[in-house]
Amino acid sequence: MKVYILLLFLVTHFTFANDVVWSKTGHRVIGEVAQQHLTKKAAKAIADILDGQTLAEVSTFGDEIKADSTYREFSAWHYVNYPADKKYGDEPPSKDGDLMIGIEKCIEIVKDESRSKADRAFYLKMLAHLIGDLHQPMHVGRLVDKGGNDIQLQWFNRGSNLHRVWDSNMIDDYDMSYTELASNLPMLSKAEKSSIVKGDIYDWVEESQDLANEVYDSVEMGDKLYYRYSYDWWDTVEIQLEKGGLRLAKVLNGLF
Ligand code: ADE
Ligand code: ZN
Ligand code: ZN
Repeated sequence: MKVYILLLFLVTHFTFANDVVWSKTGHRVIGEVAQQHLTKKAAKAIADILDGQTLAEVSTFGDEIKADSTYREFSAWHYVNYPADKKYGDEPPSKDGDLMIGIEKCIEIVKDESRSKADRAFYLKMLAHLIGDLHQPMHVGRLVDKGGNDIQLQWFNRGSNLHRVWDSNMIDDYDMSYTELASNLPMLSKAEKSSIVKGDIYDWVEESQDLANEVYDSVEMGDKLYYRYSYDWWDTVEIQLEKGGLRLAKVLNGLF
């Protein structure tokens, strides 16, 4: 019995410990911002496909299916790693797929009206999730350290790593609901918003990779992080959430 409990602990601990994801809150903020920037036409089409669910509600779907082995083929879609001195696409893509391949596939299926509603709903939920992941800089990090997962750190005296600090530690410790966070994001002018949505996913992935490089420079292995780190980086977290939301809306408005 004791051995069984120990095994159960080890399995669940290591399964969940490695499975860090842009926190549910982060994804929902991005979904909420996007929802507020949809055209009427897109909002209606999306509500039809999702049976009335909102983008915030479905934004965490991509992570919720990760534990189910039926969906294993999608697990490499959450991130992309490529050398910092190259552009995405300079090298052959990963055979398991990656974030950009995932986003392209979702777009292709969502806009195809001959596909079943169930298929379009599945890939729309994935798309809302993956555009979020594209804006978590550590999802466009380095292969050697698995997007910062191998850069061990202490977060308020508890074990963490650079990937997890950016996925969830900062956002979860800020301790606001997704609606509170979405309504407290910096107010942007029309001109600022239109500058953010310029370009396409291939421009945005380069921007995220540049940010990832700054984030890598922000710590050394083994650092003990406290409030100072959040003070220094919180504005960036908010900007990423806002960009993710505005850009998700742009992509969706273009599909419907
Ligand atoms: N999660 C698991 N492996 C990863 C990687 N190589 N880059 C980013 N996130 C990851
Ligand atoms: Zn992650
Ligand atoms: Zn994800």
